[in-house]
Amino acid sequence: MTQDDMKKAAALAAIEYVGSGGVIGVGTGSTANHFIDALAAIRGRIDGAVASSNATAERLKKHGIPVIDLNAAGSLKLYVDGADESTRHLHLVKGGGGALTREKIIAAASETFVCVADESKLVDVLGRFPLPVEVIPMARSYVARELVKLGGEPVFRQGFTTDNGNVILDVHNLEILNPVELERIINQITGTVTNGLFAQRPADILILGTGSGVKTLR
Ligand code: A5P
Repeated sequence: MTQDDMKKAAALAAIEYVGSGGVIGVGTGSTANHFIDALAAIRGRIDGAVASSNATAERLKKHGIPVIDLNAAGSLKLYVDGADESTRHLHLVKGGGGALTREKIIAAASETFVCVADESKLVDVLGRFPLPVEVIPMARSYVARELVKLGGEPVFRQGFTTDNGNVILDVHNLEILNPVELERIINQITGTVTNGLFAQRPADILILGTGSGVKTLR
């Protein structure tokens, strides 16, 4: 079974969390794309979806799923998205695709966050995957210096602009033993929009595609 097969199996398993009626939140990335493709088959059951990126909005529209502005949707029952790393406490690193800010807003506005991933994303300690930090462009060097003080090695994501018009610093060499605290500290650096730690608002359910079937962690 390939890594993509495992992503797809996890994404398909998340379909059972989609209720009837209402608007759901949909994330970004290859695993979320499998979820969107499966959602197309049951699109009549929902009123529409809030997208965490322009790419996701385009894919939803191609499948005939109405894309709804979060401001018009109110609070969402369900959000389904992938992750770059997860612990067994369902603390996540996200933002490999650069959509972390909208993803974090949708996670905050959702009652249940179902994370879908292949088994390689489950780790004991977060930080091997470089932590993405979205930054206002003029603050890039200042924020990078502050991140160095925290022990990280920030690398500017060259040639990439977020859907919000900002830039990304990918912070290498962090061993994140207290994700709730680090999320708070990085968010307090002036010029930071948000960081890719999802610990203050972790996932509620993690569906992992593995070589021996789908496993669910809560
Ligand atoms: C997007 O910004 C990320 O948070 C994605 O959710 C994450 O990178 C997972 O991507 P894959 O599903 O492609 O592995």
